[in-house]
Amino acid sequence: MSQRRSQVEIIRFDHVSLYYPSGAPVFYNLNFSFYSSGFYFLTGASGAGKTSMMKLIYRDLKPSEGLVTVFGRDVTSLGNAELPLFRQKMGLVFQDCRLLPHLSVLDNVALALRITGMDLKRARNYGKELLYWVGLGDHLNYLPNSLSDGQKQRVGIARAVITRPLLLLADEPTGNVDDKAAFKLMQLFEELNKIGTTILVATHNRSLVDSFSHPELHLSQGQLSINYPKNARSA
Ligand SMILES: Nc1ncnc2c1ncn2[C@@H]1O[C@H](COP(=O)(O)OP(=O)(O)OP(=O)(O)O)[C@@H](O)[C@H]1O
Ligand SMILES: [Mg+2]
Repeated sequence: MSQRRSQVEIIRFDHVSLYYPSGAPVFYNLNFSFYSSGFYFLTGASGAGKTSMMKLIYRDLKPSEGLVTVFGRDVTSLGNAELPLFRQKMGLVFQDCRLLPHLSVLDNVALALRITGMDLKRARNYGKELLYWVGLGDHLNYLPNSLSDGQKQRVGIARAVITRPLLLLADEPTGNVDDKAAFKLMQLFEELNKIGTTILVATHNRSLVDSFSHPELHLSQGQLSINYPKNARSA
């Protein structure tokens, strides 16, 4: 993948293969790099390996073969004690949201800032601001179980972006919201990208990929191909 001179390689896959114990290989001999401040879409049919690729990056999975390097570290060399700090540099939007059920919407979001050491009042103020922005200003004190799937997804996105992470991994972040909300959430990612966050968005939403000019990484049959839009901002 080509890079701008000022860009730093922040994710690198070298000859990476992944096999789950019972099945065929998910990936076979993948080689690619992501550069800082890039914005990438990750596409592929259901089961193509999008979630698995993200799990390799945030070290929820280890490659069966090859080397995954993130922020300059071989992820398999990270000890369990190092993982929380490693993941603090990332914002993770999970396909299944994974909100903490006993915390309010506001505190689910504020917690991400509390973990970085921010006091509760400031963390809640930032959380409120962002939740208003994603259209949930009137749901601050709701518990996650009383939200719709699309609302949960927006809380998950607010939680992931509030720390302005170095890297945002968003797994199907707009799967449960309508097109208008999806485009608004993408604009949030664009803003974050402009201030330096590298973004990887796994999506099935063709109109999003076609409407925003970013490279598309496409997974099919264990292989990755890359499509560059004509007017790509970052590659
Ligand atoms: N824990 C697991 N154990 C065994 N096989 C798994 C496991 N997780 C995923 N797989 C298999 O790995 C392949 C890739 O799955 P993955 O969840 O990465 O796909 P995906 O592209 O994210 O799909 P979707 O678009 O449906 O979210 C699939 O064939 C799936 O069945
Ligand atoms: Mg998936």
